[in-house]
Amino acid sequence: MGSSSAGLRLTVMGLGYLGLTHAVCLAEMGHEVLALDVDQQKVRRAAGGEAPFFEPGLEPLLRKNLEAGRLRFTSAYEAIAQFGDVHFLCVGTPPTADGAADLRQVHAATDAVAQHLGKRSLLVGKSTVPVGTARALAARIRAAAPAGDQVEMAWNPEFLREGHAVADSLAPDRLVFGVTSTWAAGLLRQVYAQPLGAGCPGLVMELETAELVKVAANAFLATKISFINAMAEMCETVGGDVVQLAEAIGYDERIGHRCLAPGLGFGGGCLPKDIRAFIATARNRGVTSVAGLLAEVDEINLGRRARVTDLVRDAAGGSLAGKRVAVLGLAFKPGSDDVRDSPSLDVCGRLIGEGAIVSAHDPVAMPNAARVSPDLRYAPSVSAAAEDADVVMHLTEWADYRAIDPAALMSIVAHPVIIDARCALDAERWRAAGWTFRMPGRQAR
Ligand SMILES: NC(=O)c1ccc[n+]([C@@H]2O[C@H](COP(=O)([O-])OP(=O)(O)OC[C@H]3O[C@@H](n4cnc5c(N)ncnc54)[C@H](O)[C@@H]3O)[C@@H](O)[C@H]2O)c1
Repeated sequence: MGSSSAGLRLTVMGLGYLGLTHAVCLAEMGHEVLALDVDQQKVRRAAGGEAPFFEPGLEPLLRKNLEAGRLRFTSAYEAIAQFGDVHFLCVGTPPTADGAADLRQVHAATDAVAQHLGKRSLLVGKSTVPVGTARALAARIRAAAPAGDQVEMAWNPEFLREGHAVADSLAPDRLVFGVTSTWAAGLLRQVYAQPLGAGCPGLVMELETAELVKVAANAFLATKISFINAMAEMCETVGGDVVQLAEAIGYDERIGHRCLAPGLGFGGGCLPKDIRAFIATARNRGVTSVAGLLAEVDEINLGRRARVTDLVRDAAGGSLAGKRVAVLGLAFKPGSDDVRDSPSLDVCGRLIGEGAIVSAHDPVAMPNAARVSPDLRYAPSVSAAAEDADVVMHLTEWADYRAIDPAALMSIVAHPVIIDARCALDAERWRAAGWTFRMPGRQAR
């Protein structure tokens, strides 16, 4: 094993949210890391100590490990093949038009590294892939690598959450090792010696189970969110308050309060694409229970965006044409600048489609949002967004927005009406200041 006394020599392919965080955290655990991307700009920025996306706490750790000499960046596959014996695959698996996972980045990266693998090596997949991918890749790599059968494949799915990525990577709640040999399991135990030593469970299993653990975990979380949003629809229809309902059922520890926030539903670069890819796999394999359950979860989730649009239209008097709508929050969730499949941007598009003039604010996601939605007006502050607004919409639950003084904002807007699509603001405080306060999951009062 080519290792220094401080740690192993590891490589990481792909410098997105997953790969850069993983590379930095492996270096922080004491390993020597060489990380690669085909995007030269990402490589240059990372090597200069700059994260190409917003993730709390990542940049200081990136700089610290660059300075310590444990972390370097490259775009040369030959360099990573020579540098390390354990190679982590962290490239993207975006959706195809029919919702299945597009494995082109995975194939391009594994083909590119395989041709240089002349010694015993372990390739470790971390990307989220359809079950069966790892075993198929193992055969593909063995056929292409000069070292042939000496190259093994393992799957070690990643569970980090954007906004908490550093803590989730340094102190994961579990580590999953899909392997085909004790050698691979042993190497992964060395890689993660630090969190395992701190008590993190390390679960060794077959490749297929490891691949499925990731998509099953995402499917369960998505189901929980859509469940509470289905209850929101019930409350809206028959009367009731879904926030109180969620609080009450969550005290049952078999249910729990986490992932039980009603409102606009989930989005982002992972959950929606992962459940759709899982649906596609389940359909292909004829597992109708999984396909049917998750199709319903997806539909309930997307239905929330239409429901919130209905709420704002009602609040604006039945038509959005020419109405000024202030939008607070664009990221798919707080703590991130990621706007991939952002529920907020989806709602903004619907508002514009109905003729509204949308003025939006987000603490960090406006540059990314402007790239995909250039037709929104971007405001430098909450008060600039709310100026002369007919309706204010709270679409991403940043802590900054809970700190807004409703009385101060009242003097800026044209009409003091707010839709809290995330059910996260203090309704009584806003009402006491004179606002009309509406949220999904409760009949209008
Ligand atoms: N973002 C998350 O929170 C998260 C969490 C867990 C798992 N995942 C999974 O991790 C994977 C990556 O997700 P992401 O959000 O980091 O994606 P991303 O799109 O942000 O990053 C992918 C990176 O791979 C690079 N890349 C593309 N082709 C390459 C190649 N041939 N060689 C080297 N690099 C290449 C791209 O330039 C990009 O920097 C996906 O499968 C995703 O589902 C993501």
